[in-house]
Amino acid sequence: GLIRLTSVEEARTWCRAARSDDGTLGFIPTMGALHEGHLDLVRRAAAENDRVAVSIFVNPLQFNDPADLERYPRDFEGDAKKLAGVGCSMVFTGTLPEFFPDELDSAGALRPEHLLDPGPAALGLEGAFRPGHFEGVATIVDRLFDVVDPTRAYFGAKDFQQCLVVEALAAHRGGRPQIVRCDIVRSAAGLALSSRNMLLSEDAKAEALAISRGLKEVRAAWRGGLRDASTLTEMLIHALDAPGVDLEYAEIRNPSNWTADAPPGLIEEAVALVAAKVGGVRLIDNMLLSDA
Ligand code: PAJ
Repeated sequence: GLIRLTSVEEARTWCRAARSDDGTLGFIPTMGALHEGHLDLVRRAAAENDRVAVSIFVNPLQFNDPADLERYPRDFEGDAKKLAGVGCSMVFTGTLPEFFPDELDSAGALRPEHLLDPGPAALGLEGAFRPGHFEGVATIVDRLFDVVDPTRAYFGAKDFQQCLVVEALAAHRGGRPQIVRCDIVRSAAGLALSSRNMLLSEDAKAEALAISRGLKEVRAAWRGGLRDASTLTEMLIHALDAPGVDLEYAEIRNPSNWTADAPPGLIEEAVALVAAKVGGVRLIDNMLLSDA
């Protein structure tokens, strides 16, 4: 059966024991309100490791918008039920003071000198529109890796820039854990699954489809031979000029040369990334421009 733990110390002890017999440990950090996108990561981890741990912690350090933190969906009971069916061995949650016992000030906030620098992968896009977000992500993920010390950790390409930040973090930690990047899981209609989708009205959900439609349009153009980054970007922005969609950014980037401007002319390897508010809910999505 699934073991449920509600403190960081218990989780640390369980993980230490889980690794003690040379078994592999897969880890999926989450903020809960689990959906098929999360469960896909858990299933893959269960197929590739002896044991699987999942954390559920709505990390206040990474929310730049207090209202977003306040209304972020929380359902630990429902989440545990879902995890029991997909090969998860242990799920845990904890509190900010448990994760950072020596790093908080008297008001209970993390002292700023303990925030990690997420490096150049955090520049632009989410990093620009959500100041402090990746500092908060890098800081909690680093601490989660300390607690769990997994063999492999699984992240979704849905949060493409987060994958780059976490990959850099793992490299900085000496290559442990191994980071496994997993494909985006979408609804039948194409909407990238997200915990925030449950905050969308039916109308907003339909309007949000403009995002994946725009990304597919650009991918189709790319597959048809179009390689000019500015034309592809214009096409994406035009597709996102749709009812109910309040675009924050639409960009084409080279994932292995992240900080450079979109290359003019030929793109060997590219990813199109979008953030938009639909019905007041902030959504992100992306698609690789490739033939696969
Ligand atoms: P959360 O948004 O809960 O996502 C947890 C993991 O699930 C992330 O790696 C995310 O990319 C992945 N995921 C979410 N939706 C997905 C989808 N539709 N398809 C595939 N994977 C998907 O990302 C976070 O939490 C936090 O930033 C965290 C890493 C836990 C740090 O607090």
